[in-house]
Amino acid sequence: MNVYDAERMVDVLSPIGYLATNTVEDADLVILNTCHIREKASEKVYSELGRLRVLQEKNQKNGRSLMIAVAGCVAQAEGEEIISRAPFVDMVFGPQAYHKLPEMIAHVSRKVGKPLETEFDTQLKFDQLPKQQGAQGSQAFLTIQEGCDKFCTFCVVPYTRGAEFSRPMPDVMQEAKHLVAAGVAEITLLGQNVNAYHGAEKGEAAIGLGRLIAELETIDGLERIRYTTSYPAEVDDQLIEAHRDVKALMPFLHLPVQSGSDTILKAMNRRHNAAEYRDLVKRLRDARPDLALSSDFIVGFPGETNADFDATMNLIKDVKYTQAYSFKYSPRPGTPAALMPMQVDEAVKSERLAQLQDLINNQQKAFNESCVGTNMPVLLDRVGRHEGQLVGRSPYMQAVHVVADAQWMGKIVNVDITNAHANSLSGTLSVDKNKNGSDERVCA
Ligand code: 5AD
Ligand code: SF4
Repeated sequence: MNVYDAERMVDVLSPIGYLATNTVEDADLVILNTCHIREKASEKVYSELGRLRVLQEKNQKNGRSLMIAVAGCVAQAEGEEIISRAPFVDMVFGPQAYHKLPEMIAHVSRKVGKPLETEFDTQLKFDQLPKQQGAQGSQAFLTIQEGCDKFCTFCVVPYTRGAEFSRPMPDVMQEAKHLVAAGVAEITLLGQNVNAYHGAEKGEAAIGLGRLIAELETIDGLERIRYTTSYPAEVDDQLIEAHRDVKALMPFLHLPVQSGSDTILKAMNRRHNAAEYRDLVKRLRDARPDLALSSDFIVGFPGETNADFDATMNLIKDVKYTQAYSFKYSPRPGTPAALMPMQVDEAVKSERLAQLQDLINNQQKAFNESCVGTNMPVLLDRVGRHEGQLVGRSPYMQAVHVVADAQWMGKIVNVDITNAHANSLSGTLSVDKNKNGSDERVCA
């Protein structure tokens, strides 16, 4: 979502004459778009600010100015603290205020104060943003939902991104059509808890994510739809039906479980237990048998025993995730878990993380190997490191390397998969096969 937000900031700034630069030395304005979910997020921001200050002073000596802004969730959480700890920062604003950038810049230029914007008015932001202009290439993000009301006990998001908010479906459809008209073939719908999407206008019946996806499928030229991030307890039947019925909805789903132990899930306030999660996976795979799954895992949550950790490992083996993100639990100030007793030893956390990542890596490798010999549609969206090579994504989110002429850039081509690697696949173009005319055999 930060990538999307940063692109929208560029959109807001271009009418007042700002362009993105490739190097920080060329910039008149630097915006640190921060994420608060990672460990030691604010410390990293302050050390980055320290480096920027040196540049700011150097510029001033040369008669140039450098405006420094802190945006995103660290700005939301720290607010005024940033201006008092780093007085050379010119403005601080949270994720719901970037449409006000031109106004904030004007204030700084006229020296009428340091803007500090940490309101939560999501609708106003979307109403005031210009149309997405940054759509370059064949893949784009589209935010449909923001915020989270789930309050997992380890997580800062409900405090920094605010309450759950859904954009009305007509707005989403309009933005999607605009993107497709600009050449986008794949849209990833974004939300902190995208399953909570209920994009109704006032007084209308709620429209769920499944319905929105079915509606998006009607847009001519939109070949692929993905969505992230999911909250398992809020995946409904309509969404499962979309996985069965909507061909453009890709067979890959990031469905974070966090842990396989019911005790830990309860302490995390996750609202699903391991059996419910397994059942959800079964229903999704009944609807879309080749669905590849990914997840987030936290190891070493307070109170996690060896048996709890084994339950997580068993779940991973049963679900056969094809990739995952995994983290050692780390306390975030202000969240309930930070105050829980029985914090787990760092060495134990590291050991568990290594074991878990080993298992996931083996599963990922096995999945990639099972794809060798298949033919799959790949959306080529960047140039590879080797001469003449293009890289794209398989339906299952694997990176696929292929020797292909530049004319195929941005297109969906069929690729015969010849080799599997730890994190990617490679293959050869099979242009004689029709688009979407892939072989029956799919990766196992
Ligand atoms: N410690 C470790 N991992 C965390 N995550 C969120 N908060 C924490 C924390 N305090 C992880 C979760 C979430 C992902 C985006 O980051 O797994 O799904
Ligand atoms: Fe954080 Fe996700 Fe839980 Fe919301 S559902 S509190 S974003 S981990």
